[in-house]
Amino acid sequence: MKVGLLTGGGDCPGLNAVIRAVVQRVADEGWTCLGILEGWRGLIRNLTMPLDVATTDGIVGRGGTILGSSRTNPYKTPDADLPAVLENFQALGLDALVVIGGDDTLGVAYRLYKDFRLPIVGVPKTIDNDLLVTDLSFGFDTAINVVTEAVDRLRTTAESHRRVMVVETMGRNSGWIACFAGIATAADYILVPEVPIDIVHLIDVLKRRRAAGKPYGIVIVSEGAEFPDRIPPEPGDPLPPPVPPRLGGIANILAREIEQGTGIETRCITLGHLQRGGPPSAWDRVLATRLGLAASHLVIQRRFGTLVALSETRIVEKPLDESVGVSRSLDLRYYDEAAAFFK
Ligand code: F6P
Repeated sequence: MKVGLLTGGGDCPGLNAVIRAVVQRVADEGWTCLGILEGWRGLIRNLTMPLDVATTDGIVGRGGTILGSSRTNPYKTPDADLPAVLENFQALGLDALVVIGGDDTLGVAYRLYKDFRLPIVGVPKTIDNDLLVTDLSFGFDTAINVVTEAVDRLRTTAESHRRVMVVETMGRNSGWIACFAGIATAADYILVPEVPIDIVHLIDVLKRRRAAGKPYGIVIVSEGAEFPDRIPPEPGDPLPPPVPPRLGGIANILAREIEQGTGIETRCITLGHLQRGGPPSAWDRVLATRLGLAASHLVIQRRFGTLVALSETRIVEKPLDESVGVSRSLDLRYYDEAAAFFK
């Protein structure tokens, strides 16, 4: 058996831990692995690298993905790209493919399984933690730790200068990162896409805190947070608009409004890709390794058209179906707990 592995979509701490687990477990069976480079682009263009126990030893703690990644989707230009995918799959002599990705990458995996019966096992990943298919995705824990460390640093400079600091996190259209990092840093206010921005209330809370003697403020805002009555900001990139659309810029707008509304000097920072970079946390390494192990078991048992996911504390097998694309909003019970501190 020859097992291909690919990583697609935004990178995520923990991808290498999955790769290492699959390669080492598959090697135990006497089978070989082949790395497909740069997501689906690698299968379209036949870009590969050898993967074995030696090359994957020691990568468990390395950020990013040794395979590279892209947001290439062969179903966007199916006439040109689908035949290439199928031809290369055949030419490489692959007996199975482990696809590690988010909604878009796994959506392609599902369609390739459904349309052509390609022998695929999926592994969900995203720092955003917004995949319905799994209770928690690896990368998320690292991301909230990065935000927490950054805010701990920002707090000291905000306090020195008696400023409000608005910190913009990633998360796309879900507020998991902002909410969890906001709780971890005892932020003065947290804004998430699931709850429209109430600027009057935000300003009121910050003013009351200042009047009560708190000399600085921390506001955490998710990149997808929106005002109820305004169109979202555009990051100001040159044309053409990227797909999926790029989010960002809300912290800048908020900082201006907070300064005007409170009279307190305000600064903003967008943490951006820092949240995706660097080594995975211990938790993410463990989760990613468990998922990789379970995925290799499915490959060994030839249970294709499946994926592995976390359900409560257990790694479970699920069908690779339409639900891989369904996103999961922040559970508002967490937001309510966070908001108890900024009434
Ligand atoms: O989905 C992961 C994510 O990091 C989002 O939080 C963010 O909006 C997006 O990817 C950024 O994508 P890119 O790396 O293409 O700028």
